[in-house]
Amino acid sequence: MRGAAKVAICAACHGPEGSKPIAGMPALSGQQEEFLVLQMILLREGLRDVPAMSGMLKTFNDRDLIDIAAYYSAAKPFTNSGNERNPQRYALGAEISKAMGCGSCHMGNYAGQRQVPRITSQREDYLTSALKAYRDNQRSGVDTSMNAVMYKATDADIAALAHYLAHQ
Ligand code: HEC
Ligand code: HEC
Repeated sequence: MRGAAKVAICAACHGPEGSKPIAGMPALSGQQEEFLVLQMILLREGLRDVPAMSGMLKTFNDRDLIDIAAYYSAAKPFTNSGNERNPQRYALGAEISKAMGCGSCHMGNYAGQRQVPRITSQREDYLTSALKAYRDNQRSGVDTSMNAVMYKATDADIAALAHYLAHQ
């Protein structure tokens, strides 16, 4: 695949084929292609601020980003949440997810669709920090729907949601 040649440096943080990322980093394998393209444009233009990736996408044009997104999206999703499933936290997370309607946009199996990302097969620590960033208005994406969703969530809600989603 054309994207494969362009992503050698990305593996240091996101893992081989975007799978098995290091602590705190998102897995990219199996992620929705449209979501990946949009996020990489936000990152390249500095609209999503990730200091660790600063300048890293500067040399890529839109065609390159489309190739990279196709490459990662075709790779097998990552499935190691990094810790044991805790039945109580899992059940609490399931309840909160239902009450907050996460599946209405991310789909019933949380695989996402188009610009809405896959939120399962993702590291629990990354999910926790992403949800806090939306809540605290430190991250907004192509739209502000996630900021609105997370507005009133507590740290305990977020911990339970991240545990539940990481252990699908
Ligand atoms: C030095 C570590 C590092 C390297 C190397 C790196 N990234 Fe990242 N990447 C990050 C971090 C950190 C985040 C965001 C974490 C956060 O928002 O908390 C991120 C986020 C992303 C996201 C958004 C994913 C999501 O689920 O929101 C994409 C897409 C991405 N990187 C692509 C790439 C590509 C393509 C390369 C190689 C050209 C690359 N990254 C190299 C650290 C890195
Ligand atoms: C109204 C539709 C909608 C609802 C409801 C929704 N989301 Fe999202 N979610 C999105 C969109 C769109 C994005 C991408 C936003 C962006 O560009 O940053 C997103 C992004 C995310 C991300 C970032 C993933 C990544 O890889 O960076 C996480 C985690 C997430 N949502 C979890 C949740 C959880 C948990 C719930 C329920 C509490 C939820 N979402 C409810 C639309 C929704």
